[in-house]
Amino acid sequence: MKIKSAEFVVSNSDVAKCPKEKLHEYAFIGRSNVGKSSLINMLMQRKSLAKTSGRPGKTQLINHFLINKNWFLVDLPGYGYAKVSKSSKRVFQKFITQYFAEREQLVLAFVLIDSRHEPQKVDLEFMQWMGENGVPFCIVFTKQDKVKPNALLRNIETYRQKMLATWEEMPRYFVTSSSNSTGREELLKYIGEVNVEMD
Ligand code: GTP
Ligand code: MG
Repeated sequence: MKIKSAEFVVSNSDVAKCPKEKLHEYAFIGRSNVGKSSLINMLMQRKSLAKTSGRPGKTQLINHFLINKNWFLVDLPGYGYAKVSKSSKRVFQKFITQYFAEREQLVLAFVLIDSRHEPQKVDLEFMQWMGENGVPFCIVFTKQDKVKPNALLRNIETYRQKMLATWEEMPRYFVTSSSNSTGREELLKYIGEVNVEMD
């Protein structure tokens, strides 16, 4: 899919205030610092469309971006970031889960996983929650440039085994790097196909 335009639309913490347009919407979610905002910039080939930071907790709101004037990408705050105060952490989690439970325009979520790490409880629990709530998702293994090819394959296989303990099959997955644009074409192609399917 060709990206002709990508515009920031609105940030907020209230699902009810998200854009009203009935456009297909794709959301990026995952632990703080996993690379959600960077991935959006990489896909859109824009350096700072979404705000990124080396420190976790950068994205704190629901951010809508209008792509090619006919679908939305959504950048969300990370989960599992222990350093934010307990009360604000609860607010993030509440509006994140509210977003997924209530947002009718949402077609598909991408759950980002750092490809360097072993399966983490918080990610497995989040995907479990998505499954129980009927939210379709794919997995995106991020930061591919930080891991050797063999370790990447091993980590994905470990993930597959872990997922198969509770899921019938491993969800569709992508491998990406925001540093070298790995996975860009494949991910955009898939979104394009889903957009057509949903029309
Ligand atoms: P929060 O908004 O805090 O939840 O984080 P986020 O998931 O949006 O992460 P963000 O995109 O801000 O990236 C976090 C850090 O990881 C930044 O320092 C990025 O430069 C770095 N990063 C993200 N993706 C990649 C990648 O593919 N490769 C490498 N090497 N670094 C990456
Ligand atoms: Mg972010």
